[in-house]
Amino acid sequence: MSSLNPTLIQSIRDFDLHSKAVLLRLDLNVPLTDADASGHRAVSDDNRIREALPTIKLAQEKGAKIIIASHLGRPDGKAKKEYSLEPVAAHLAELLGEDDVTLADDCVGEGIELMAASLKNGQIMMLENLRFHAGEEANDPEFAAQLAKLAQVYITDAFGTAHRKHASTYGVPSIVPLKGMGLLIEKELKFLDPLLSQPKRPFYAILGGSKVTDKIATIESLLKQVDGLLIGGAMAHAFWQAQGDTVPANAKQPKPDDVEAAKLIMREAKRRNIPCLVPADTNAGFDIGPKTIAKFSEFVANAGTIFWNGPLGWFEKPEYAVGTFEVAKAVAATSAMKVVGGGDTVSAIQQSGTAASFDHLSTGGGAVLEYLEGKGLPGIDVLKISQRQKQLQSQTL
Ligand code: 3PG
Repeated sequence: MSSLNPTLIQSIRDFDLHSKAVLLRLDLNVPLTDADASGHRAVSDDNRIREALPTIKLAQEKGAKIIIASHLGRPDGKAKKEYSLEPVAAHLAELLGEDDVTLADDCVGEGIELMAASLKNGQIMMLENLRFHAGEEANDPEFAAQLAKLAQVYITDAFGTAHRKHASTYGVPSIVPLKGMGLLIEKELKFLDPLLSQPKRPFYAILGGSKVTDKIATIESLLKQVDGLLIGGAMAHAFWQAQGDTVPANAKQPKPDDVEAAKLIMREAKRRNIPCLVPADTNAGFDIGPKTIAKFSEFVANAGTIFWNGPLGWFEKPEYAVGTFEVAKAVAATSAMKVVGGGDTVSAIQQSGTAASFDHLSTGGGAVLEYLEGKGLPGIDVLKISQRQKQLQSQTL
């Protein structure tokens, strides 16, 4: 950001939305149950829907005509019934205490424009899955223009999708002048920004999951900030091999590029004099063992900030959830600022019963990791406007 031409991102709070049609891009990509005998599916984890409620309610209070847009899964540009947002619209209606949140049968076209135009103030409609059109993921300008036609104001709260340069996350806000972020993105940034600049020290990152290569750019960026790295999950196997230890025969063998990535991280941590804790024992190769649990728990006790991404073992199996749950308890007991990213990790923390002690459970997986690379996210950067544009907008509103 240049000081000669400062930019800013407006918040939904800044807009007069009375009687205005608002395209609200949310990330309602939530897990669903398998279909029952009558083909009905339900939302099995509604965290992302709940986290979107404050923005939806604020838009209603402001008297907006609300058009919710989201993707669900990866239907690859085709309308597929199993990827319909129908269960999500039904669940949202229940949470809002509304009789119904009308789900359109598509997201663009004349019929949809008519539906949007007939909304009353405070009323909500939901567009069908954006990814039923190939134009969404391709960031097709025509598809973006069709979406943009539906509303006067664009608000995004889709933090979990902000790393995607798609039509609804990037194309539309590139052409709609009145644009801003919702309350969830505001909250995400409030907790994630301090991890990139001046975290309360000592700052420790706990990293698990399986592939080192998926996270290498994030870890390289975190190494400039952290005072210690704690490694668990199947990812640890690459670190064992990198330090010359053998991986137990029954455990998942690391891929050569993961081992190379682990070597790079260990070298960089050593150069910076940052402790990099790798498990000293395991539970059958699927979880960290008791010595490691004790060591990790003791290590984090004095933390000022903790960022956690990736479970430390195969926590979906109760016999291998011990490491993740015990370290979660140790983290919960610290006075550190505690931030968790990634759907699996959030779900593990919730299952451990310690979620209430964490400061922030992010709704982003890939988006958090990319944000922590420190290069910004397309879906957030595109919201920036200049002071001059803001002045002009306030004169015309
Ligand atoms: C997510 O769940 O991480 C987001 O909704 C993005 O989904 P995608 O990885 O299919 O783009």
